[in-house]
Amino acid sequence: MATPPYQQPSPAIMSMATSGSCAASVLGPVPFKDVEEDADMVSAVSERPLEEHADMVSSLPCHTITGVSSLKLCCYQGFWIPESWAAATAAMQRHFEPRLDDVIVSSLPKCGTTWLVALTFATMVRRVYPPGAADHPLRRLNPHQCLPFMEGLFATRRQGKLEGLPSPRLMNTHMPLQMIPHAIAAPGGGRGCRVIYICREPKDMAVSTWHYFRRAFPELAFSDVVDLLCDGTMLCGPFWDHILGYWRASAASPGSVLFLRYEQLLLDPADGVRRLARFLGLPFSADEETDGIVRGIVELCSLRTLSAMEPNRTGYVVPRLKLPRQALFRKGMAGDWKNHMTPEMACRMDSIVADRFHTTGLTFQ
Ligand code: A3P
Repeated sequence: MATPPYQQPSPAIMSMATSGSCAASVLGPVPFKDVEEDADMVSAVSERPLEEHADMVSSLPCHTITGVSSLKLCCYQGFWIPESWAAATAAMQRHFEPRLDDVIVSSLPKCGTTWLVALTFATMVRRVYPPGAADHPLRRLNPHQCLPFMEGLFATRRQGKLEGLPSPRLMNTHMPLQMIPHAIAAPGGGRGCRVIYICREPKDMAVSTWHYFRRAFPELAFSDVVDLLCDGTMLCGPFWDHILGYWRASAASPGSVLFLRYEQLLLDPADGVRRLARFLGLPFSADEETDGIVRGIVELCSLRTLSAMEPNRTGYVVPRLKLPRQALFRKGMAGDWKNHMTPEMACRMDSIVADRFHTTGLTFQ
C-alpha cells in the first residue's frame, strides 16, 4: 500500500470527523488513488466470475445496445445493469456494511456524477485541503479516482479495501437504492449512513448519454438511446424507478438521503454546496464563508476548471471501452435536448415522465 501524502488532520478535523459518528479513525476521506493503485474501477471486470452468483447471472435476461456490442446489460431485480456488475451487485447487496458516517454519492450515469463527486469530496476534505491548495487532490486526480466506485470494487473482489478505509468514507455507486439496502435504516430503526443523489432532466440525460458513448461507439444512434431510455432498458434503468427510489427515501428520511437536482446546482452552485455541507453535518463556519471557501470549492469543481486539468484531459474512465476522461466534461448545461430531439422524441419522453412521476411531487419543468 502506498504511503498517502495527506497531512495529519488538525484538531478541527478531529472533532468534525468524530462528531455524531461512530468513527474510530478520523482521517477520511482519503483520496482513494493514494491508497489503491488501481483506482479506475468503473469498467472493472473480475478475471474470474464471482462464483457465488454465477448461476444467477447466467439466468438473467440480457441485451446489448445496438452499436455498443461490448456493453451487455442484464436485468437484475428489475434494473438493467452491466453483466460485469450483476454478480458484484448481488454481493454488494448482501455484504456491504455501511458505517454510520459513510457518505455514498449516487446517480444515474450522465446526470452530473463527476461534478457531485468533486463537490462532495472537496467539501469533506476542505480543512485538510482548502480548495485553493496547490496540492489539492483534485488538481492531480480525476474526481473518480478520489473515491471508490462500489460495484467496481465488488466486481474485482476488492471490497476488503472498503473496510480498510478510514472514516468517514466517501464512495460512489450508480446502483438503485434497492441494491444498497443497508445504507438506509429501516423506518423507526435509527439513521443509516448518508446518501447524496443527483437527478437530471431525463431528456438532457439522454443527450449526455449519447454524446458520451459515441466517443467510443460512433455508430450509436441517438434515436436508439431515446428508445432504450423510454423502454426502461438503458444502463441502470428504468430511469424512473432509479430516481423514484431515492426520491421517496429522501422524503421519508431527509437526514439520510439528500436529493439534488443538476439544474438547481447549475443555477446556484454555492447554495448546493452549502446544502451539501449542512447535510453532511459539516456546515461552513462564518470564518469559512468570509475566507471564500464556498466560492473556492465551486470554482475548483467548475466544469471550466476541472476540464482544463491534466488528469481530466488524459486517460480513460473506462479503459476497456476506450471512453476517455475528457468525455466526462462537455457542455454542462440545461436544455441541450432542444438541439437534439425531434418534437416526437421530446413528447414521448415527456409523456413517460408525466405518467411515471405525476403522483410523486417530482417534476422536471
Ligand atoms: P453534458 O454531456 O450535458 O454536457 P456524469 O458525470 O454523471 O457522467 O455526467 C456528465 C455530465 O455532467 C455532462 O453533461 C458533463 O458536461 C456534466 N459535467 C461534468 N462536470 C461538470 C461540472 N463541473 N459542472 C457542471 N456540469 C458538469
